[in-house]
Amino acid sequence: LTIDVNNKGAKISPSLHGIFFEEISHGGEGGLYAELIQNRGFEESNIPPGCSLDSGWIIPPRIPHFSSNAVSDWKMKWEAIGQWPAWSLQTTGKAKAEVSLSSKQPLHAATPHSLQLDIKAADKAGSVSVVNDGFWGIRVDKGESYNLTYYIRTKKFSGPITASLKADDGRTLASYTFDDAKSSSWKKYTCILKASDSDSNAKFHLTTNSPGTVWIDFVSLFPVKTFKNRPNGMRVDLANYLADLKPSFIRWPGGCFVEGISTESAPNWKRSLGPLTERPGTYSPWGYWSSDGIGYHEFLQFCEDIGADAMYVFNCGVSCEMRAGVYSPDEKIPGIIADILDGIEYAIGPVSSKWGAVRAQNGHPAPFPLKYIEVGNEQVGERYAKRFNIFYKAIKEKYPQLEVMAAMGIAHLHKPTVNAISKMDIADEHAYKGVYWPMIYHDWYDKYERKDWKLYVGEYACNSGVGSGNMMAALNDATFILGMERNADLITMSSYAPLLENINDTDWPVNLIRFDNAKSFARISYYTIKMMNENRASVNLKTDLKLAETEGSKVPLYTGKIGLSTWDTYAEFKDVQVLQNNKLVYTSDFVNHRNEWRTEGGDWKVNDQALAQTTEGAWPMAILSDRSFDIYTLKLKARKTGGP
Ligand code: AHR
Repeated sequence: LTIDVNNKGAKISPSLHGIFFEEISHGGEGGLYAELIQNRGFEESNIPPGCSLDSGWIIPPRIPHFSSNAVSDWKMKWEAIGQWPAWSLQTTGKAKAEVSLSSKQPLHAATPHSLQLDIKAADKAGSVSVVNDGFWGIRVDKGESYNLTYYIRTKKFSGPITASLKADDGRTLASYTFDDAKSSSWKKYTCILKASDSDSNAKFHLTTNSPGTVWIDFVSLFPVKTFKNRPNGMRVDLANYLADLKPSFIRWPGGCFVEGISTESAPNWKRSLGPLTERPGTYSPWGYWSSDGIGYHEFLQFCEDIGADAMYVFNCGVSCEMRAGVYSPDEKIPGIIADILDGIEYAIGPVSSKWGAVRAQNGHPAPFPLKYIEVGNEQVGERYAKRFNIFYKAIKEKYPQLEVMAAMGIAHLHKPTVNAISKMDIADEHAYKGVYWPMIYHDWYDKYERKDWKLYVGEYACNSGVGSGNMMAALNDATFILGMERNADLITMSSYAPLLENINDTDWPVNLIRFDNAKSFARISYYTIKMMNENRASVNLKTDLKLAETEGSKVPLYTGKIGLSTWDTYAEFKDVQVLQNNKLVYTSDFVNHRNEWRTEGGDWKVNDQALAQTTEGAWPMAILSDRSFDIYTLKLKARKTGGP
């Protein structure tokens, strides 16, 4: 290996490593957001705006990755979760009560539901409790304090109400009795619950021995200790993982989350501002509701807290809807432009501006570190390009200092979109790859066209053929990062995805940091990125690598088992032959990218013998998938016979 220190190439960008946060797998709600009560405002079983059960588009809360869009299935799943997910009613002795979801006299019009508790019978010997499971349990630590807030209004009810945290085995870990718990109009109650003991699977109870009717809303419980001790803050262990990565920027809030289930229900920064009781929350297309407790302001604050630039992704009037991409009518564009310009003003406008003043009222007169704006997520096609051009012009005219990013890449596949874009600062191209792909295509980006743009690899991961993430994944990710570094003149930013996974509701196979309500750990790929960032090269040097010959035959630089995963590209290959040490070990009439085979005219069958996949502009490959490290020679008489 010869390294020529005088022959310098491109400098590696200090912004190469950032992070991408999305509301997926409860990364925020029941994850980074330190709130301990699930469905705190009883809004989770709402039907999102712009959706209906009959349209088939609605993804019910907490139903992981959908496999079917049959309307009957959706309805069944929706009904299965009940009307007050995470809450239940418990009675002792002869107490009798019923709960229902009420929309009468709401605490706030934007959050129309409350829980109505009708207590028919209760006395000293028989009590009634409404119980919250937390996010698959509540972790309570001896000696720690928890801030409780809840609202009630009552009728023919004399109180008192006791709030408590109870262990799995029934032990009371903390409790506080509100003697004055009765009010004909909405009244806020607060206390600090101090834990006398610990349990990692505790539940929260509101208990009474009084008959009558109680409407309950916005029940919120926070550990006093949050990241930087901010009220309404972040969970300490998870926030520390993110801070320790020293990301140069944070992209948020998605991903598909940005696209929304419908354009009407897609996230909107204005709805996520202001009093928590007035935030309607957002349905994640990943199958659950989030409170928007980590709203626009809180996330900008988090960026500032960890020294990262902010990259906000906004919905540009295109929704996910089963990935078909449904566009809101063009008449809506001026409104969307006005909205995102307001959002930018909120983040960086002077306090004398309308939205800068609101930011100051919310406790932050200084501008936040917003540097990048991304127009939608993973949208391709000329219609998107036309829309992008309009947004780009409007944003740059007012905020020339911002980098405006397009939500698709510049790879071969995206050419028609790129050609229709007049000007973009950075293109965001995603790269989920199978095991060995980064090694085989170590020179992938070397071949990319250089033009008046930079590339941001906004979502990358080796995420198939590696279980839920292992050393092999980390080696692949490291190789991939080296490929980006080598192309530093083009690639200036990257972020691994997805970032966070609550293991009780996983939406995606491989994630960087895994956790439940009590524990968390970062996968080895996390430490790979941390190491590569902490020891980031400053400049590329010219190298010349000559491979030694091994016994028998020349060994190519990257060889072995090949698995390529790619976009939803459909392709099939004809007459595939695989040779091992010049011996024919496998043939197939047809193989497709999903590892299925068929004979001419026959049906596709699952194939665990061979795998043939394609990737954008790459050679088709066929391999044995016996998980060994043998070297195969591939004789490909393959030709693509189907797909786009
Ligand atoms: O990271 C998971 C998903 O992958 C993102 O939501 C989306 O942008 C991509 O398709």
